Amino acid sequence: MIRNLADDLYQVKLGSNSSNCYLITGDITILIDTGTVLRIPEMANTLSEIGYSTPDIDLVINTHEHSDHIGGNVLFQKTALIAAHRNAAVKIISGDDEVMHCRAHAQKFEGYHVHAWLSNTDVIDADSWFLKVLHTPGHTSGCISLYDPRRRVLFSGDALFASGTLSTIYESGSLGEYFNSLRRLGTMKIDLLFPGHGRESNNVDGDLELTIRNAIAQFPGAARLAAMFVPVIAGLCLFETISSIDNAIINAEVLATMDRWAQRWFLIWGLLIAVAGIRFLLPWVIVWATVPELGPIEAITATFSDDPAVIEAIERSAPVLLMFGGTFLVFLFFHWLFLEDKHYGLRGERYIRTRGVWFFAVVSILLSPIVTFMIVGYFLALSVRSPPGGGSRA
Ligand SMILES: [Fe+2]
Repeated sequence: MIRNLADDLYQVKLGSNSSNCYLITGDITILIDTGTVLRIPEMANTLSEIGYSTPDIDLVINTHEHSDHIGGNVLFQKTALIAAHRNAAVKIISGDDEVMHCRAHAQKFEGYHVHAWLSNTDVIDADSWFLKVLHTPGHTSGCISLYDPRRRVLFSGDALFASGTLSTIYESGSLGEYFNSLRRLGTMKIDLLFPGHGRESNNVDGDLELTIRNAIAQFPGAARLAAMFVPVIAGLCLFETISSIDNAIINAEVLATMDRWAQRWFLIWGLLIAVAGIRFLLPWVIVWATVPELGPIEAITATFSDDPAVIEAIERSAPVLLMFGGTFLVFLFFHWLFLEDKHYGLRGERYIRTRGVWFFAVVSILLSPIVTFMIVGYFLALSVRSPPGGGSRA
């Protein structure tokens, strides 16, 4: 059965064991999912009902690696590009039937090709359709959704269904990732949902809310995750309060030892530097320097952004940011251990304090591999980014 959903969009339904498939017509003809192999004759006949034949399909996108979404690929893979997320692609081309479940649908699990391996935030610009690839794992590790931000349409595969219907978490999937994917989809502005099974929906916020509520009710792990949320937040609040009071006492003790002018200078400029400089300007400079493609304004707004490209850029820079932060905290600990006056409570602390100069030796030993690692990493990254021959491509 084929249904006309819009001028340039059709839904192909091939029977109970097959996924919903979506045909996008236009400058580029795209088929999202292909159903089971048993329904190939029906797929060919259905396409012919609207005047399309197999070679007319330019691009097939598989939303994930399950056999009921990829079986019909064999009809198209000689004439069309087949695309899937790289986590799905590696299973499809290697015939990993533990996750594909081909035998369950009397399908072969070998002989599939994936020509384009997709990643999160890749874009398929098909003129009237602008499809962003969102990696939405959980049901399986290779699940993607395709989101057109101009039309506010989401093709969700098996990552999200209408009416709060839950996805099954299969072998390569994960409940935690499922929750993350649902929450991430919750940040998008989606007016229309076209899922891999069941009916479409124009109440996507409600569907997401209901899905999350149902998941918490049905998965014991989800209930635990939700239950952990409150004590973790409460613990963090308590920790922040205690460390703030501790800070205030130490600051007051230090202030008491200062001259009057120094106290005044600290209370005005010291606080400004500590609050505006260290807590705002420094993180801004670090984020901007680490992800220069964001630019100065987006480096500030990135914190509040739900743009997948920005999230991806920040995640890419996380190792460097964590390395800076971690190194600073380790040095702070050694500074306290070797150089700061304190009341000694543990055996050996007094001895270590008398060897203050060791601080510089320890820090130097730690810094050598860190700096070497950063320099090598920087040049490796440059060599990966540069096109062969070092020239520019038009
Ligand atoms: Fe599936």
